[in-house]
Amino acid sequence: MRRAKLSRRTIGLIVALAVACTAAACSRSDEPPVVTGAGTAGDAGPAAAVIGTLPDGTTVERFTLRNATGMEVTLATLGAAIHSIRTPDRSGALGDVVLGFETLDQWVANPPYFGVIVGRYANRIAGGRFTLDGTTYTLATNDGPNHLHGGTRGFDKVVWQAEPLSTAGGQAVRFSYVSPDGEEGYPGTLTVNVTYTLTDDNELRLDYEAATDAPTVVNLSNHAYFNLAGDGTVLDHELQIDADRYTPVDATLIPTGELAPVEGTPFDFRSPTPIGARIDADHEQIAIGGGYDHNFVLNGTSGDLRTVVRVYEPTSGRTLEVDTTEPGLQFYSGNFGSPIEGPGGRTYPRHAGFCLETQHFPDSPNQPSFPSTVLRPGETFTSTTVFRFGVRP
Ligand code: BGC
Repeated sequence: MRRAKLSRRTIGLIVALAVACTAAACSRSDEPPVVTGAGTAGDAGPAAAVIGTLPDGTTVERFTLRNATGMEVTLATLGAAIHSIRTPDRSGALGDVVLGFETLDQWVANPPYFGVIVGRYANRIAGGRFTLDGTTYTLATNDGPNHLHGGTRGFDKVVWQAEPLSTAGGQAVRFSYVSPDGEEGYPGTLTVNVTYTLTDDNELRLDYEAATDAPTVVNLSNHAYFNLAGDGTVLDHELQIDADRYTPVDATLIPTGELAPVEGTPFDFRSPTPIGARIDADHEQIAIGGGYDHNFVLNGTSGDLRTVVRVYEPTSGRTLEVDTTEPGLQFYSGNFGSPIEGPGGRTYPRHAGFCLETQHFPDSPNQPSFPSTVLRPGETFTSTTVFRFGVRP
């Protein structure tokens, strides 16, 4: 089992804290980080802190990545999750641009999947069932009749091993998880690595890798909810998605198989358009999603790292660009049924954040015409997504 590379002093502190925390039956993250691991200038990697202990005794760690411009990203081992991304606005003031929680209990429950890696299969598999090489596999149905984000205990719910790194590209954390054969119904032992790197160009880069010992399916994504203003709703954010087509869905949000043109629909984001401009449009697909909850067929060549999304938030001046090697993007406009309790007594309203989930298309294992998500022994799944932050005057 790989462990974070920490100094002996740090390990001692972590153990002491874990013991103290367990003795007090605490599981909380509402105190300032108290354990400093590697992470000051010139050494091995980002700072680490124990933020609490799960009921089974597993400690959860959080890492803080910093770059030369002062940008800060925190990442946690539970769900290999993004907990915060602090970027400057046009006046240089740092603010958190992703939705998050205060306590570890909230991060454990996390019904909206704030910040986590979703897998083995990001988004839905129809009926919780697929057939591969003549064998039918049955998965948990945790979203009405369908399987969602890897099941009842997906990659968002497990504690990943973490290795802090100092790379030429910037401070990084490499998260690893070995998903046993049969976990959540999937065949094959799947070994997964997700490396987050914060560059001095204010980019957060995610490199995904997976390998299997038996034929299986895999589709990995990150489920961060962005709000570049750091507050309110995202309806005034201007969004551009480089996609001529999207995948319409049935009433249970499973793609019908059609790749429909965005032209003349509320799904046409080929030029910058406020997210809220057509979010209540009288359109069957908007009604099904309760807003946007759809996969876009990204233009360009799958496998090539290309810029596919641009976002601008007018009040803060913040911008976000997304590059990916993936063929699809689930754009989810945070269509919460009821407000969600955030940190510091804040409440997140409907549309408080939006997800840009770079991925293969939902339900690909049952849709032979979609790009394949099958992974076989001897192959390595790789995928890269870059979130690039900036400002405009
Ligand atoms: C899905 C939504 C779902 C949300 C939270 C998104 O990726 O597309 O349908 O409600 O995740 O689970």
